[in-house]
Amino acid sequence: MTKLKSRIAPSLIAALVALFVPQAAVAQASFDAESGIFRLDGGDVTYAFGLGEGGVLKSIYWGPRIAASDRLSVPKLGDISSTDPASSIDAQEYPGWGGAFYTMPALKAAWPDGNRDVVLRYRSSKLEPNAVVIELADIRRPLGVTLRYSIDPASGIVGRSARITNNDRVTVRVDEAASATWSLPVGGDYRLHYLTGQWAGEWQLQSRPVTAGSTVIGSRRGTTGHEANPWFAISRGEAREDHGPVWFGALAWSGSWQIGVDQNPRGDVRIVGGYNPFDFGYRLLPGQSLDTPVFFGGYSDDGMGKASRLLHRFELDTVVPGSPKPRLRPILYNSWEATGFAVDERGQAALAEKAASLGVERFVVDDGWFGARNNDKAGLGDWTVNSRKFPRGLKPLIDRVHGLGMEFGLWVEPEMVNADSDLFRAHPDWVMHMPDRPRSEARNQMVLDLSRTDVRDLVLETMDRLLRENDIQFIKWDHNRDFSEPGSAALPPEDQQRVATEYVRNFYYILDELRRRHPKVEFESCAGGGGRVDLGVLHRADQVWPSDNTDPYDRLRIQDGFSRAYSPGLMMAWVTDSPNWANDRRTSLRYRFLSSMQGGLGIGADLNKWKAEDFAEAKRFVAAYKEIRETVQRGDLHRLISPQDGSDRSATFYVSRDRRQAVLFAFLHSGSRLSKQPAIQVRGLDPAARYRVRPIVGQPGAESPVQSGAFWMSHGIEVPMTGDFQAEGRIFEIVP
Ligand code: DGJ
Repeated sequence: MTKLKSRIAPSLIAALVALFVPQAAVAQASFDAESGIFRLDGGDVTYAFGLGEGGVLKSIYWGPRIAASDRLSVPKLGDISSTDPASSIDAQEYPGWGGAFYTMPALKAAWPDGNRDVVLRYRSSKLEPNAVVIELADIRRPLGVTLRYSIDPASGIVGRSARITNNDRVTVRVDEAASATWSLPVGGDYRLHYLTGQWAGEWQLQSRPVTAGSTVIGSRRGTTGHEANPWFAISRGEAREDHGPVWFGALAWSGSWQIGVDQNPRGDVRIVGGYNPFDFGYRLLPGQSLDTPVFFGGYSDDGMGKASRLLHRFELDTVVPGSPKPRLRPILYNSWEATGFAVDERGQAALAEKAASLGVERFVVDDGWFGARNNDKAGLGDWTVNSRKFPRGLKPLIDRVHGLGMEFGLWVEPEMVNADSDLFRAHPDWVMHMPDRPRSEARNQMVLDLSRTDVRDLVLETMDRLLRENDIQFIKWDHNRDFSEPGSAALPPEDQQRVATEYVRNFYYILDELRRRHPKVEFESCAGGGGRVDLGVLHRADQVWPSDNTDPYDRLRIQDGFSRAYSPGLMMAWVTDSPNWANDRRTSLRYRFLSSMQGGLGIGADLNKWKAEDFAEAKRFVAAYKEIRETVQRGDLHRLISPQDGSDRSATFYVSRDRRQAVLFAFLHSGSRLSKQPAIQVRGLDPAARYRVRPIVGQPGAESPVQSGAFWMSHGIEVPMTGDFQAEGRIFEIVP
């Protein structure tokens, strides 16, 4: 690791580069030796931190990009009182729990002699392209922390993580390990926004003022969870969609996680996030390290809308498989709502033919194809084809699907086991459990102890064989229950609290390895709907299933919440039957399509019940979706009227990256012809360009006159609708 003094030259070079290249196109990491300040500049954002007295690493600035020539300084704080010493109110980048420190630490550790005091100080640093690596160490014991900062040149999103290394001759137990502490400028009127939910009701947006005290969201369930998602946004003042400052963050971890937002009575706001410290205890033998997940943080000067768009682009351009050019999501058909567990070769082939006639591109057989899986009581763990349902194996069906011009996809849930399975009968110790304690079941299933390498390898080899022996293009990877009794028969008592962490590491290992061995196979992350959606799994999954609730009206709210953090291009949305199983709500096929076309389109209806006119209408929507797919999946989303606002209408607008095409989706939940609906002002068009507007699917001749982008954005477009659950769609196209 290079010492600071020898690192002045790169910062000078970076400053010179910044003088001659337009600012927004340049990202850089720099260090100013005189002031002791590190800076990351990218997109419209500057992030700065620096060296305080005695080598304390202090937070300095996070906000709109400032000039390369601007000088920042490290604040010097004195004690306020005997109860508020400077050490407890300092905005530190990565505080250990030690000395006089009372708020949420980033790191807490314990040594065998009883010492639990960790005071971290700066040791050295290294600049890399668009990144800074900082070495911290405890003042007395050889415990090291490597902080890694990177900045995305396009979005200005900063990635932060920590590696904790035990350089001692004795074992150290890490009791809390955050990825990062973020500090906001002192000031009032902050509002916190986060997402909560439940099965079939994920992605509900919560907003509350940030006041003195703490708000903690997280999962103690071993997985990301339906109840909350590891994303936050903090606006200054009311969260406006199109203006005002918003800071936001998302954690790349699919296990138990925690994000705490704390404001002290003086108004300092800190956000600490990483591993959930609940039941966390990670022993590090001499020489061992613990890596935290990456916590990404960004800043928008243009409200919640831009915050989401920055995240969307960041995900598509840097996180997901295939980035910066991930493949557009194929239109899929999934059999789950049509057939449940009653899948067989003949029935699936009949559905496949009907799906293909609509223009579907991928046919997915869901649960029920393997082992003794006739209901949810048996079979999980036995990943061999059920020979009563598929007497000739899967090959004839796969060949039929391919012959129809579609890809073949298959559902699996390999982390789980039913008690009624050959796997559990042979290896009861391979499920998570604690000695002499009951093993809780949920949906009649138990969670395999993936922290064990033998179980990890079994799952990997079983899935690898499935993919080697069958010509499969897509795997829907499900996970239908959370952890309970998270103990492992393979670990000693003192390492039991690392089971949940090792589990997720091994889950990632399996997916990474499967992708390496089968680079053409795509994966969907599903966990009883949206229970495992985060930037960690999205590094390995091409798409996610956001909810088991397929009611198209409920979905508007679910999709709106999802879009706060994740790109619509990663979110699958199926057209299913009406009335919907979730709430008996009746909606038209048109409404269902327009609701689902706002993400990756899927069809999950029982096509055997459809009439000729349903097929004819669906074909038109599928064809139209292919015309707008790139704009919806890769473009910029503007939430014009959010269904979270409680209005009778909602509307979204997707603008292609080159602004040549845009798509409006508008929904009326309940409306009368006695009241007039105001025109909808769209956003994001080129004001000087001229756009023609036509219905997504509709009567020829229903086009609107050609008008400028400025006109559509300020005058707006009339979208008349009357009645309950009405939907309209419009395509805007630039006129050369
Ligand atoms: C839960 C998923 O979210 C559903 O889509 C379906 O795959 C079922 N599991 C199958 O058991």
